[in-house]
Amino acid sequence: MSDSVATAVAHPNIAFIKYWGNRDDSLRLPANGSISMNLGALETRTTVAFSSACRSDRVSVNGSLSEGEALIRVANFMDRIRSLAGEKRFAEIESQNNFPIGAGIASSAAAFAALALAGSTAAGLHLNEAELSRLARLGSGSACRSIPTGFCEWLAGDSDEESIAVSIAPPDHWALTDIIAVVSARHKEVGSSMGHQRAMTSPYQAIRVATAPERLLECRTAILKRDFDRLASISEKDSTMMHGVMMTQEPPLFYWEPASLKIMKNIMQWRREGIPCFFTLDAGPNVHVLCPKEVEKELKGRLGNLSEVENLLSSGPGDAAHLVD
Ligand code: PMV
Repeated sequence: MSDSVATAVAHPNIAFIKYWGNRDDSLRLPANGSISMNLGALETRTTVAFSSACRSDRVSVNGSLSEGEALIRVANFMDRIRSLAGEKRFAEIESQNNFPIGAGIASSAAAFAALALAGSTAAGLHLNEAELSRLARLGSGSACRSIPTGFCEWLAGDSDEESIAVSIAPPDHWALTDIIAVVSARHKEVGSSMGHQRAMTSPYQAIRVATAPERLLECRTAILKRDFDRLASISEKDSTMMHGVMMTQEPPLFYWEPASLKIMKNIMQWRREGIPCFFTLDAGPNVHVLCPKEVEKELKGRLGNLSEVENLLSSGPGDAAHLVD
């Protein structure tokens, strides 16, 4: 039975060029490509054990049993693995995170990347990186970017096979830090899956998608040349464009809180004062503040002094999803 159990670790990722909206919702084929950095200090560790004693999949996250929609989403994902592997048994799935989940810190990305690797391995499959990235994408789009190492680009692709993420630089390519200013660790009210499905109702989505290739090129170049100012300006613009779409889709999604905006304005002011930093926000109110490692301490001090900030998390670039004992 020992070959029916596997444990994997995967990191969440922060996107510099964002994924928002699908061309195909069921396959999670994205409207545009995206670029991100894995966050090595944050991790999800997931064990999957298939057992003939299980009557259905049992899922626990940080010690609490999952139920309802969350359980159905994982069970559907496990069905894909079972059909790929010809596995009939259900599984016991245990997942632990060292960061708050469901609050715009890409917990679903790390969760489905770890589950894709642990689940496929426990089922006896030996998927390569592209196959794993493709499988993880079916659980949560951004999860495909948590499979390869370091700085990753999700190639939108024209088909299920083509829509995968690849590494564009290893973690040690650039000592960037992501300081996450947590303003609310509450679970978000509207999840991103529903949000993606409504993206096209914003009049701004078509122009955001049409101009994404230019931003992807600019971002990829900035990363390869380690050009912080270029990365800062393209990432802030892309984040705000995505939130512009979110706020103008039907029904509108306002993930920013007053505290988020206060921090964003501070970041812009600190940059004018000469501190290299920029902000980017995902589907939640917490603000990701990117900076070169040298200024991490200074920025943590400044962010920690803002009354709006509940907590600070930080991370450098992270490695690929991997198996552990
Ligand atoms: O993978 P999902 O469905 O959780 O989508 C996440 C989308 C954003 O985090 C808002 C942007 C991104 O590219 O990560």
